[in-house]
Amino acid sequence: MRVVRTRAALRAALADAARPIGLVPTMGWLHEGHLSLIERARLDDASVVVSIFVNPRQFGETTDFTRYPRNEARDLEICATAGVDLVFAPSVEEVYPVGFDTTVSVGGIARPLEGAARPGHFEGVATVVAILFSLVGAERAYFGTKDAQQVRVIRRMALDLALPTEVVPCPTIREADGLAMSSRNARLSPAARAAAPVIRRALLEAHRLWEEGERSGAQLRAAMRTTLASEPLARVEYVSVADDATLAELEVVDRPALLSLAVRFDEVRLIDNEPLP
Ligand code: PAF
Repeated sequence: MRVVRTRAALRAALADAARPIGLVPTMGWLHEGHLSLIERARLDDASVVVSIFVNPRQFGETTDFTRYPRNEARDLEICATAGVDLVFAPSVEEVYPVGFDTTVSVGGIARPLEGAARPGHFEGVATVVAILFSLVGAERAYFGTKDAQQVRVIRRMALDLALPTEVVPCPTIREADGLAMSSRNARLSPAARAAAPVIRRALLEAHRLWEEGERSGAQLRAAMRTTLASEPLARVEYVSVADDATLAELEVVDRPALLSLAVRFDEVRLIDNEPLP
């Protein structure tokens, strides 16, 4: 496995890479969720490239960026064991050189939910992913559907900018108690970690009600809030029952929909979702 840190070294390393190339963009602190993306890429592609870059432009709160967990040595070991061919681990200055002055801004799909709760977040994501897609020129790139809106935003961006990389959504990987795997889980206190599976219970409760015939968006949102309220440590940021394609909130669930939520435990912000049906 090769590790490169500059745009030039990446281009040189990719010149003789076997095609198709699969790209797994990450911010490091790799876990089973990332491994499932790497495994999928290994099945689909002849070469697997992993990027490790904690992207400052997608963090609103500086503390969230500085506290984001990092352990590159461990990440590189995981990549080597998983059969990754090439790791791109650039510095901030390499991704955003002096004079960098372009932002990729996606429209409607980036506005609600995470876009409303974290102003500027999706501009940061779309900008760095556009750079990575352009640098790597992969045939496919793999993203977890825990970040359901991110997948939709990146897909829109790739389509609109005619980037030739196919966006491949992959299933959320969960801990045994249902908590979606996330690098942020490492920052939960023991009490918050014990409380966090309430997120999954809230989503499953709304899903159960929907299966029993409940079609009111308000009732399904209320059911998620009631379940979340059973954990005093959970501070709800939003709960949503939205159109699966546009992410506009639904009064009546009369089409494919997405249940989603964002909840804080202490200063750690977690998100998760569940599709209907
Ligand atoms: O999902 C992530 O880890 C990040 O948002 C991504 C796609 C690597 C862009 O920084």
